[in-house]
Amino acid sequence: MSWEKELDEILSKTEGEVFEKATLQSLWKLMSKGYISSFDFPISTGKEGNVFRAKRDGEFVAVKIYRINTSTFRNISKYLMYDSLYKVKKDRRSIIFAWAKKEFNTLKKLYDAGVRVPKPIANEGNVIVMEYIGSVSQAAPLLKNAAIENAEYVFCKLAEYLRLMYKAGIVHADFSEYNVLIHDGEPVIIDVGQTVGTDNPMAFEFLKRDVKNITKFFRKYISVDEESLFRYIVGEKDEIC
Ligand SMILES: Nc1ncnc2c1ncn2[C@@H]1O[C@H](COP(=O)(O)OP(=O)(O)O)[C@@H](O)[C@H]1O
Ligand SMILES: [Mg+2]
Repeated sequence: MSWEKELDEILSKTEGEVFEKATLQSLWKLMSKGYISSFDFPISTGKEGNVFRAKRDGEFVAVKIYRINTSTFRNISKYLMYDSLYKVKKDRRSIIFAWAKKEFNTLKKLYDAGVRVPKPIANEGNVIVMEYIGSVSQAAPLLKNAAIENAEYVFCKLAEYLRLMYKAGIVHADFSEYNVLIHDGEPVIIDVGQTVGTDNPMAFEFLKRDVKNITKFFRKYISVDEESLFRYIVGEKDEIC
C-alpha cells in the first residue's frame, strides 16, 4: 500500500484533526528521508499528541505527533515560560515545533546519560520518531497497568534513573505511573517534553511532586519513603536500595 493511502486510513481513524498541513509536511519529509516507511496502528490518542506504531524498513518505530490546537498551545506556553533556552516566535506553529524539538533533544541528553528512555531517531516539525517500546503485537503497558512482579527492582531502577537525570541537570516534572512503560520487566521513562532544568526556580517543587507521585504508587507494593528518595536523587544520600 502506498503511504498516501496509509495516511488516508489513519486519518479516517483519528478524526483527521492531527493531520494538519504542518503535520503532513513533516511526515512527508520523514518518509522521504527514510525514517518512516509505513504506519501500523495508533498506540495512543492523548490530549496533546498522538503516538503511532510505524515501521522504518523492517524495524518498528514509535511516531509521536504533537497536536496543534488551542488547549495544547496554552499548556505548552505555560511550560516554555520556565525554559529560557527555548525562546521562540510567539505563533502557535513555532511554539509547537519548539516543543517537539525540546522533547527530542531531552531524549538525546537522557539517552546519552544512561537513563532508559526510547532512543530518539529523528525530529521534523511537530513530529518525533523514536525507538518503539513493546512487542510485535502490542506496545508496552504503562507502569499503571502493568502486572508488576518485581516492584522493588522497578522502584530501585527508577530511583537510579531519576538520580542520573538530576545529575544531567534535568527534572522530569511530569513523572508518575502514567509516564513509565514496563517492557520485559524493565522500566522505560517516556514523555519528557515538559522537563525543566535543575537550575530552574521551580525545579525543586517539580521534583518533590515527581517523588510524591512515584512513592505513592509504589507504596501499594513496598515500603518507600519520599524524603529518602528525594535526598538520594539530589545526591545528599548515597544509597536507597
Ligand atoms: N516509544 C514508545 N513506544 C511505545 N509506546 C509509546 C512510546 N512513546 C509513547 N508511547 C505510548 O503513547 C502514550 C502517549 O505518549 P506520551 O509521550 O506519554 O504523550 P502524552 O502523555 O503527552 O500524550 C504513552 O502513554 C504510551 O502508551
Ligand atoms: Mg504521557
